[in-house]
Parts: sequence; structure tokens; C-alpha cells
Amino acid sequence: MQKINSKIQPIKLENDELSLLDQRVLPLSKKYIKARSYTEVTRAIKNMSVRGAPLIGIAAAYGIFLAALEYKKLEGKKLINKLKAIGEEIKNARPTAINLRWAVDLMLHEVASLDDTLEIITALKKRAIWIHEDDAQRCANIGRYGSKVIPKGAGILTICNTGALATGGIGTAFGIILTAHQYDPSIKVFASETRPRQQGAKLTTFECIENGINCTLISDTACGYLMKKGFIDIVIAGADRIASNGDTANKIGTYQLAVLAKENNIPFYIAAPLSTFDLSIETGDKIPIENRDEKEVTLINEGLICHPSTQAFNPAFDITSREYIKGIITEKGIVEGDYKKEIKELFNTSVIA
Ligand code: MRU
Repeated sequence: MQKINSKIQPIKLENDELSLLDQRVLPLSKKYIKARSYTEVTRAIKNMSVRGAPLIGIAAAYGIFLAALEYKKLEGKKLINKLKAIGEEIKNARPTAINLRWAVDLMLHEVASLDDTLEIITALKKRAIWIHEDDAQRCANIGRYGSKVIPKGAGILTICNTGALATGGIGTAFGIILTAHQYDPSIKVFASETRPRQQGAKLTTFECIENGINCTLISDTACGYLMKKGFIDIVIAGADRIASNGDTANKIGTYQLAVLAKENNIPFYIAAPLSTFDLSIETGDKIPIENRDEKEVTLINEGLICHPSTQAFNPAFDITSREYIKGIITEKGIVEGDYKKEIKELFNTSVIA
């Protein structure tokens, strides 16, 4: 099988400057934001120019490297202390996706025992590039394992965007779709719009079209109807954080898809790299949920859609409990059944399925 490369590059480091594809204006315009400081990276994560759990982890890693360059006048340990404080700031940019914390901690751990400033900067650059490339490899493996669960000619429902725009490689849930499409071009994707920010409408349809995948955009409210009518054979979603018992935080609306899938006897899968698991958390109700600006709900494309005094509530993620999840597809294999036990094993073995 030919190697699958993504045509989309949402993040690039060139001459110690970061280019971030501004996902807020896709697909109608393709614009890169330049970032030379960690504050610019943090802002891009907060305002969602860069988004998707693995990708914000990668951006955060580059952000730490840029911070080291900005503070290169500080010697050894002082630089490391400064980077620790900056790391906290970056981690708080978006609270639900654990990949952000995972990447910052990995970066800081890399240099914890160093005390030469130049060595610290060199090590951080190398580690950030590694985090980026390593995610591409994880995506490829998720695609390989996950494509095996896709039935021939399947109608696949997915939510939000989990492709090249959200990761360092071909994507998680979307990487599975892309890999399956190589074997079976007859698969059909149904992209749930994903209000309020419409990542399904704006980004997933774009990635499908770029890759020649048959794709139909549906409103979030149509998902149950399509399941009932037999259009959907499988549902696959990504994850922002997975608790040690398998409960999963993902884009708001994922939970209702999982419940509807169960009701309609349709398998519901989560796809995520191990960097998305949080073994310090026992169950999903401990996962912090990011609440975003009400305006994301009351406005569409900057136009008000309701009475100006309307109150809105905008949780960006929800939790799907493990009993709705048929399997979690990772770069080391698929876990199904006793999640608590199998997730623990995942972290102790090289490959499980
Ligand atoms: O708010 P977003 O667009 O960052 O949310 C993204 C998602 O919910 C994705 O499903 C998740 O990060 C996995 S991306 C591979």
C-alpha cells in the first residue's frame, strides 16, 4: 500500500519562525499566521486559529522553543524557571485537551537536567520537531488499525475535524477514513456540521474534498434521522482527553451521537493517540470542560442570529461514557471491553492488537 501523506500542512517551523494555518478562515481563504513569540502561539491556540488536540500540543511544544529563544539572555536554570512559568500559561490556553499539557511537560522534562542555555535551546528545538513528527507516525498507525473496522462501502458519520488540520499527520478519526479510502474508495463520509464553530462544515468537508472522498455535510440535528434511516454504518470521533476508565471528552455533540448510535445498533468508535489519555483521572466527570464565548452561539459568521439580549451557554466539549464506546483506536491497537485494564496495559506493552 502506498504511504499516505497529507496535502495539508497546518503548522511549519522555518528559520525559527512558526507559520500557523489560520483555521478560522478556512476553507474560503488560506492564510498563514506568523509567530515568533510564545505569546503569539498562545493567542493562536486560544482563538482557535490552530486547533485539534494533537495539533495544539505540537504548537505548544514549538511555543516553548520560541520562548527559549526570546529569553536566551537568561542563563541555564533561570531560563528553565522562566520556561516553567510560560509552560503554565500555555497549558491554560485551552483546558480540556490533555495533549497541550502532555507536550509542555515533555518539553520541560527534556531540559530539566541541563544548565547551558545554548544546549537547552538546541534540545528544545529537537524535541519540538520530534513531537511533531512522532504525531504523524501515531496517526499513520491509528489509520492502519482503524481502517480494519470500516465495513466495505460504509456510511461513516464523524463530528468536528480530526484530520491533518487537527494533528501532525493524516489525523485520528479522519486518518482512519483516509486509510480506509485507499482500500475502498466507495466509502461515504457524513460530516456533522459541528455547531457552534462548524469544524465539520468548514474543515472536514474541505479535507474530504482535497482527498477525493465522497462527503455529505449534514446539520447536527440530522444525525439521528440518518442513523435511523440506515445511512450510517459506523460512527468515529476523535478525543481531547480520555480518562483511565475509557470515558472520553470530545467536541460538544459527541455524546449525543454515541447515545443515538447505541439506540440504533451502530458501532461508535473513538480514535486517539496515547498522548490524549490522562491516567491521573479515573472517570470522565473529572475532566475539565472548556466553556467558550457565548458569541460563538449567538452569532454565525459574525451575524447575530437571535434577539440581542439572548443568553447563551457554550461548553466546547462533552463526555461520552465508556459504555457507549465500542472501541478506542490507538497507535498501539484497539482497546475494547475492559477499558480500565486494557488502557493500563496499553501503556505497558508495545502493541496490543
Ligand atoms: O475545539 P476543537 O476544534 O479544538 O476540537 C477538536 C476536537 O474536538 C477533535 O475531535 C479532537 O481534538 C481530536 S483531533 C484529532
